[in-house]
Amino acid sequence: MAKYSIKYMCLLALLFIAAISKVYANDGYKLWLEYNKVTNTQLAAGYRQQLKYMIFPTASDQLKASKAELLTALDGMLTLKPADTKNIMSGQTVIIGTPQTLKAFSISVPDSIGTEGYLIKTTLIGQKKGIVIMANTDVGVMYGVFNFLKLIQTNQSINKLNISDHPRIMYRVLDHWDNLNRTVERGYAGSSIWNWHKLPGIVDQRYIDYARANASVGINGSVVNNVNADALILSPQYLLKVQALANVFRTYGIRIYLSVKFSSPVELGGLKTADPLDPAVKKWWADKADEIYHYIPDFGGFLVKANSEGQPGPQSYGRTHADGANMLADALAPHHGIVMWRAFVYDNKVPDDRFKQAYNEFKPFDGKFKDNVIIQVKNGPIDFQPREPFHPLFGAMPNTPLMMEFQLTQEYLGFSTHLVYEAPLFAECLQSDTYTHGRGSTVARVVKGDFNRKLITGMAGVANIGTDLNWCGHPFAQANWYAFGRMAWSPDQSSAVIAGDWLRMTFTNDENFVSPVKSFMLQSRENTVNYMTPLGLHHIMGVSTHYGPGPWVDNAGRPDWNATYYHRADSAGIGFDRTTSGSNALSQYAPEVKANWENLQTCPDEYLLWFHRLSWTYKMRSGRSLWDELVHHYYIGADSVKQMGLTWDKMQGKIDAERFTEVKQLMEVQLNEATTWRDACVLYFQTFSKMPVGAAYPKPEHPLDYYKKLKFYYVPGIGGNNYMTN
Ligand code: GCU
Repeated sequence: MAKYSIKYMCLLALLFIAAISKVYANDGYKLWLEYNKVTNTQLAAGYRQQLKYMIFPTASDQLKASKAELLTALDGMLTLKPADTKNIMSGQTVIIGTPQTLKAFSISVPDSIGTEGYLIKTTLIGQKKGIVIMANTDVGVMYGVFNFLKLIQTNQSINKLNISDHPRIMYRVLDHWDNLNRTVERGYAGSSIWNWHKLPGIVDQRYIDYARANASVGINGSVVNNVNADALILSPQYLLKVQALANVFRTYGIRIYLSVKFSSPVELGGLKTADPLDPAVKKWWADKADEIYHYIPDFGGFLVKANSEGQPGPQSYGRTHADGANMLADALAPHHGIVMWRAFVYDNKVPDDRFKQAYNEFKPFDGKFKDNVIIQVKNGPIDFQPREPFHPLFGAMPNTPLMMEFQLTQEYLGFSTHLVYEAPLFAECLQSDTYTHGRGSTVARVVKGDFNRKLITGMAGVANIGTDLNWCGHPFAQANWYAFGRMAWSPDQSSAVIAGDWLRMTFTNDENFVSPVKSFMLQSRENTVNYMTPLGLHHIMGVSTHYGPGPWVDNAGRPDWNATYYHRADSAGIGFDRTTSGSNALSQYAPEVKANWENLQTCPDEYLLWFHRLSWTYKMRSGRSLWDELVHHYYIGADSVKQMGLTWDKMQGKIDAERFTEVKQLMEVQLNEATTWRDACVLYFQTFSKMPVGAAYPKPEHPLDYYKKLKFYYVPGIGGNNYMTN
């Protein structure tokens, strides 16, 4: 009790300091676009010297917005207002433009940077030196400006620049699972930022700042409503609201997309059927597309969840996924829109391992989809678990565009109270070798379209954004939004580089902060795997809420929602046999991958229980028994959260008190929850293994029954008034 009150008083003191030190207070709203003062005076003087004059034509809204961003940022970082000029001043001018505007200075823009790429170059213009930010399009200029600003935000030299970059992926999209009543499915950062009731009349500043943040990392699309879609979104009343958002997004190079309900022709149009081959249905969608493009000429297209988790789809009418997707594609094609058709399908009535179902459903349709259809595939075969092997569809449909779907919102990663930097998860999947086109056919290369240049390409991230002051609930969850944008632009980028940039832009360039914090960020996802689902365990969370541990769940609405379906623990052992002797899901991978994961000598520990069912005494590489290894992972997982907290404590004073205190409190919550995961899972699995937990490990605070009986009321992310128990 005494210990508790000291802790409590310390926190109060910290909060008090945070409250009085207004100058240092920071609610995190500005994300990585903080534009903090450059504190290194020599560096700042150098920047000021080189950025005295600016030639920046502002013919379009996009160019005007880019210029405004540049001016705000330079004022914030350097208290500098470059003078507008028409002439080059020696060594002091930045020229920004497209081929048309740069012609006057005899500067040509290389075609190789494409329509969205940019080139930032220190160069002689006539006799004088200057910096040129050039692109073929206005949006390319915007990306160039943001990246130029990043150099200053991260305190890099701008003396001899020659940076050329372009996106490797065409459609870089955030998927919002936002409902029209402003709840967010699997959202842990408040309500939906789209205030549908006040739209279209009120255009919130948040919409603009959202678009700016996206543009700064190259995100060029936004699906604003939930995949479990409400047909109303296509009504004229809502299309006017969508139009108002589209008008904001356009300035920042972002297209708007809508999730659509396959039965909309019935629900909204009053038709008797939504059969995709029915002429009246086809006409309804074609007319609807015309109507949408009337409101939004640059509308991006549709995202569709069909015949999945109770959603209607073409199979409801005896048709195929290809029939459904192609019908919508025909409606959008005259307007150059696309259909993002999700492969997240599984059915408990299908008597096969859930792992295999999406592949079984989609693979036969390779090459059968229209050119403007892209199949959106989750990174792994089940559902955004802390660790999954890559989805076997990647590489298996060489004649079909496949779009990566990552989940930024932390449905299975501790919601917004756990610090989990997801870039290593993205990278692990993207760098996996599918072997489908020989060695080195990484998932990233499949997604980039390296093996079939005719295909459109895309990457989607399920957004973690809400009305919380800091947008994402946890200050560090912003890094997942940021990292997604960077990896969608260029999937081979390093998680460490991205983390470093994000920390510098969001907090400080102080190396004594960046270095230790970056290293725990990079470790953070592995920590969470360890305290939740080590050694290839998966889907053992609380039922429905997906909050907290629930390895005992065996009475969910469907067998394939039960934890016991996935871990299969009994007195003989644990794990899901997906080898030839089991469900043979491994046969969906290329022979090299199958051989590697099927063989216990080569299957990495990380994937072990994904593919193998083993006895509790099975001897692991470490020499420990499987049981001891499992326990070891659970304990190091929770312990690493403690270590992270100790490192964070040393950061006090290096950043603003407000965010320091918030993160400190969050880490304490995370440690409690990690400990609960550890103790609940170890106690539960011990009922089968009947083996001891080493005496050196701290004992669980409660018996198993306590954890099983925990009830969590009004857990965020599931909408409505309902509460669920584990
Ligand atoms: C998960 C998630 C659902 C979501 C679904 C999807 O199952 O729990 O809330 O609707 O994924 O991706 O469609």
